[in-house]
Amino acid sequence: TEAWGPDDDRPRKMAGPVRVRVPAKINLHLGVGPLRDDGYHELNTVYHAISLFDEVTARSGDTLSLTMEGEGAGQLALDDSNLVIRAARALAAHGRVPAHARLHLRKQIPLAGGLAGGSADAAATLIACDALWGLGMSRDDLAVVGAGLGSDVPFLLYGGTALGTGHGEAVSPVLARPATWHWIVAVADGGLATPEVYRELDKLREGSWPPAPLGAADELLAALRQRDPEVLGAVLANDLQPAALSLRPALADVIKAGYDAGAVAGIVSGSGPTCVFLATDAGHAESVAAGLRAAGVCRDAQPARGPMPGARIV
Ligand code: C5P
Repeated sequence: TEAWGPDDDRPRKMAGPVRVRVPAKINLHLGVGPLRDDGYHELNTVYHAISLFDEVTARSGDTLSLTMEGEGAGQLALDDSNLVIRAARALAAHGRVPAHARLHLRKQIPLAGGLAGGSADAAATLIACDALWGLGMSRDDLAVVGAGLGSDVPFLLYGGTALGTGHGEAVSPVLARPATWHWIVAVADGGLATPEVYRELDKLREGSWPPAPLGAADELLAALRQRDPEVLGAVLANDLQPAALSLRPALADVIKAGYDAGAVAGIVSGSGPTCVFLATDAGHAESVAAGLRAAGVCRDAQPARGPMPGARIV
């Protein structure tokens, strides 16, 4: 697919500024297996990149610095804990170059929203600094560096629709005839911390025997090939949804409001609290978004399309 095609049209070295756009992700299927010894859960997931974007711009500098605007500005620390800074440092160490860049982050993807905003910013930074520093690394090599930064970073380097295994970091493309899917993204007030949502799932599963099996994504993959929203909507699945609903019971009202507004289907996105709804076409997505906004159950509702390419220079 376009998203996974050769991208070696990327310039090896750019004087800067290097501007990189990166999409948000949703999970069309999120099967969560048992907790592993390393603190991660084994996953079977189908990732899907949608048209909600963050942007990282890299300019040459004498030190490493980060500024930001947009979603979460003022709430997100811009220090060494920030995934943009961590990605720049990890790449510099890997490439044996000084981590010198002036970085600027423009955010539309909500913080702690279940849309992999942090991983998206890390992926964009890897692409931007690779070009600024002239490292000429392949996306596959950047994905190895990215996997150490966040489970969703490798996917956001590739984009499209992809199967994720391991703890989500092992991705392979889903080959399908080109199709555009129409979504509505319902953004909540406040975020949910991903580790807490996984812990809540472990708690909900405690004492049940045998352990919850790791659900395969086969039905979802078959539905994608049929290119029919009703068929896809019927198999959207998220094992983290009961945990997100347990921590944030009001999300049930959001899901219900989406169906009341005519959505084909709706689920919590990843670890939440963002909810995503499927529509039949762009016009339908506009009307579902309007219905959700009128219901007053979310901070914002906006249409988005997928699949989108991964992090790339614009
Ligand atoms: O990899 P990432 O930093 O996005 O993961 C954040 C946290 O989410 C992990 O530290 C872990 O608590 C939880 N997680 C998990 N199983 C996964 C992915 C994430 O338990 N497959």
